Amino acid sequence: MPGAGALSRRRLFAYTGAVGATGLAVGAGATALATSGSAPPNAAGSTSTASAADVGDEQLAFYGTHQPGVAAPAQSHGFLAAFDVKPGTTIAQVKSLVQQWSSIAATTMAGRSLASGDDAMAYGRGPSSLSVTVGIGASLLTKLGLSHQIPPALAPLPAFLNDALDPAAGDGDLCVLAAANDGLVATHALRALQRAAASCCTQRWQVNGFADAAGSMPTPTSTPRNLMGQLDGTGNPRQGTAAFDGTVYVPENGGPAWMRGGSYLVFRKIRMLLDDWDTLDRSAQEAVIGRDKLSGAPLSGGGEFTAPDYAKFTASGALAIPAGAHIRQAAAQNNNGATILRRAFNYYDGLRSDGTPDAGLLFMAFQADPATGFTIIQQRLAGADTLSTFIRHEASALFAILPGCDQGDYLGRQLLEGGGV
Ligand code: HEM
Repeated sequence: MPGAGALSRRRLFAYTGAVGATGLAVGAGATALATSGSAPPNAAGSTSTASAADVGDEQLAFYGTHQPGVAAPAQSHGFLAAFDVKPGTTIAQVKSLVQQWSSIAATTMAGRSLASGDDAMAYGRGPSSLSVTVGIGASLLTKLGLSHQIPPALAPLPAFLNDALDPAAGDGDLCVLAAANDGLVATHALRALQRAAASCCTQRWQVNGFADAAGSMPTPTSTPRNLMGQLDGTGNPRQGTAAFDGTVYVPENGGPAWMRGGSYLVFRKIRMLLDDWDTLDRSAQEAVIGRDKLSGAPLSGGGEFTAPDYAKFTASGALAIPAGAHIRQAAAQNNNGATILRRAFNYYDGLRSDGTPDAGLLFMAFQADPATGFTIIQQRLAGADTLSTFIRHEASALFAILPGCDQGDYLGRQLLEGGGV
């Protein structure tokens, strides 16, 4: 990994959910850049001034109020892995693991080599906007004898119409999401996290995703496309707006103290029935979503970021955005105000034995409470969304994403040392 000289070219970003974030821990000679609310949002509703030339130099600050992977701009590679603790694992062992994970996150996100046992996989690479995000499942708290600490928001998701879930590919006691704009950098971090986990955990599942690279999009802040060819992320809440923090983070007065400033991650592995989708012509595909495929503009008119007009009719008397269109069914105004922050990665794992693509979306939604976020929206989508015909939900997981921590501290200390509440 590069030394301090290379760090001087780096730019440090802190995604705290606030515009003009302050209090950044800035490395030697590094320049602190706050986010700007004026540029269009990317998939995570955030902004970035990245150019292809400095992709490797960009650094996210690990320490802070929130784990930065929640709201950071979408990276080009993302690996989500879930672990189960081995029988008999103690709170002390989990504490030791999360301490190691916090240290690995802080070190690799800064683009530094691990203090011991570094495999040099990412030697010479910059931090590449690496984020390491740690979450815990309700099952961990049960196994550790901490059932009384399970927040209501971590209650199991209900079953949804047409779910086709593989239990072995979902849930889990702990999770880590390693995401970066360089696949090697993300893998280097993931390997270190996995090696640390081996002492008290077995890995339950892993999914490997990708998204557009910043340098390949029309502008660094363009909305990414998914494998159906749609711009995906346009309607996300915008970082720096009052609504953003309320949507994404557990508030001061919400839930147990150890989760304040944290978030809840709903993961769904959603296979796209791409062969079926390909039989639709472009206008039929646009009617399914309610947006122009190329520009992302709502079918009611305007540009990508024009608010959809759900009351508008075409000259022929049809709803401009059809009744079953995905954006109409998913919109907050049709779901009691339910809002989520979507951060998806694509996956393409080849062809299944029937010859159809094993491909789709590693759908991740962050919110302050899934009961008033993902669950409300998915209950509607499962029954009324035309897109449901072209997708299958194949795996599901819900994790409490721990709040951030200060330098010298580690993630989850309040839960693991302070008795939680
Ligand atoms: C493979 C599955 C899915 C695909 C391909 C997909 C695709 C899209 C696209 C293209 C948009 C319009 C652009 C945008 O705002 O991002 C959109 C919007 C949205 N989607 Fe999905 N989506 C999928 C699954 C889901 C699921 C499971 C949920 C939540 C339960 C969801 C919630 C939303 C929301 C809240 C919006 C914004 C609606 C608005 O503009 O108010 N999507 N999605």
